[in-house]
This record gives sequence, C-alpha cells and structure tokens, in this order.
Amino acid sequence: MDKKINIAVDGYSSCGKGTLAKALAKSLDYIFIDSGAMYRAVTYAMIRQGIAVYDLQKIIRLLPDLHISFKNNPQKDYYHTFLNGEDIEEGIRTMEVNELVSPVSKIDEVRSFLVQQQKKLGTGKGVVMDGRDIGTVVFPDAELKIFMIAKAEVRAERRLKELQQKGNTQVSYDQILENLNDRDLQDSTRANSPLKAAVDAVIIDNSDLTRDEQNKLALELALKRIMSDEL
Ligand code: DC
Repeated sequence: MDKKINIAVDGYSSCGKGTLAKALAKSLDYIFIDSGAMYRAVTYAMIRQGIAVYDLQKIIRLLPDLHISFKNNPQKDYYHTFLNGEDIEEGIRTMEVNELVSPVSKIDEVRSFLVQQQKKLGTGKGVVMDGRDIGTVVFPDAELKIFMIAKAEVRAERRLKELQQKGNTQVSYDQILENLNDRDLQDSTRANSPLKAAVDAVIIDNSDLTRDEQNKLALELALKRIMSDEL
C-alpha cells in the first residue's frame, strides 16, 4: 500500500472526530493533525497574555509569534500540542478555552494564519486531519472526506464521562450541553468557512455506534479509497 491519501474528518463539537481520526491514522500509519487544537492554542495564548476576544488588533499582532507544533506517538496514544516549544495540551482543554475558542475561530486573520499552515502539513499526503472546514477549505481535494454527526445529548454525556475520568467533577452535564449547542451554532453560522459537510463527504452518525464500530467503518472506507486510487 504505497499510495497515500489525505483524509478530512469534520463534524460537530465532541462528536468523536478526534478518536476516529487518531484510530485511522494509527491503522494506516499516517500523521494525525487536530486542527481544533490550533484554534485552541491561539485562544490559550490570547488568554495568557490577557487579551480580550474583542481586541482584534492585539490578537492579530500576536499571531506571528505563535509557533504551533505537535508531537505524535500513536503507540503510546500520545498526541500533544506545543506552543513555542511548550506542551500546552492540558491548558487548551479547559472550559475557559472552550468558551472563547469559537469567537476566536471566527476571526478571518486567525483562520488564514492557521489554514495556510494546515494546507502545508498536507502536501506530502498521508495525513488525517480533523476539524470543521477540512473537507471544504483546507483539503478540498482530500481523497476521503468524513462528516461526523451525533445527537447533542449523546455527545454531552460522552464528554461528561471523559471529564470525570480525568478527575474534573466541577462541570455539569447542563453546562457541557449548553457549551456544545452554543459552539455548534457559532461554528455553523459564521461567515468564514462555516461548519458544513462537503458535497462529497460520507456522513457517519455515531449516536448508536461503539468506538470500534465507527473506527472499523472509517477504516473500510479509507482502504477502499486507497485501493481504488491504486488501480
Ligand atoms: O475540534 P475542537 O472542538 O477542539 O475545536 C475547537 C474550536 O475550534 C471549534 O469550536 C471551532 C474551531 N475550529 C474551526 O473553526 N475550524 C477547524 N478546522 C477546527 C476547529
């Protein structure tokens, strides 16, 4: 299997996009890129510097100093985000970042700064990238595009369990559900690159699928695509 393809995985917040994209990358020995982590990194940097989300000029001035990178070790399930060499994986997953990341990702300059880097990451092929606009904007030519959906209540329940497993008992189900619905609305109604399925995306509704079932389904789609490209 020499031929490598790019795979775009888009969908709503907490839909299991990352889980599916990581599993696919691991099975195919591809690179996994979490594009949402890049928007989170910008948001994190902004908060740390005390910049308010409405202070557009300060946010734009901050961008050239932000060097976002990833360290991936699929064998150890290690996928960490780095900002200027510092591991910020934990810091970008807080509720504070959750609440500000959608407004930040609406800023045109932030999007073009990150999309340019994301496109570059895909030039060598063999990348699975998850996000909101990967199939429509970042990799419009991706050989496989997956768009994931799941009922908001199912997603909130899963997210709550995940946070509880990490020892976070401060956040309630209702807070999570509200944040998910709010982010979905902001992400799908923004003017620049709104969240939407590419016309050629395969829709996977994982409301009633186990992780293994969804991963198997995606891997079958990818292998079919790789095989048909090799013919
Ligand atoms: O995938 P995530 O929930 O970590 O993404 C965080 C936010 O980043 C999400 O609410 C919208 C934004 N985002 C985006 O606008 N475009 C992407 N390709 C990925 C994420």
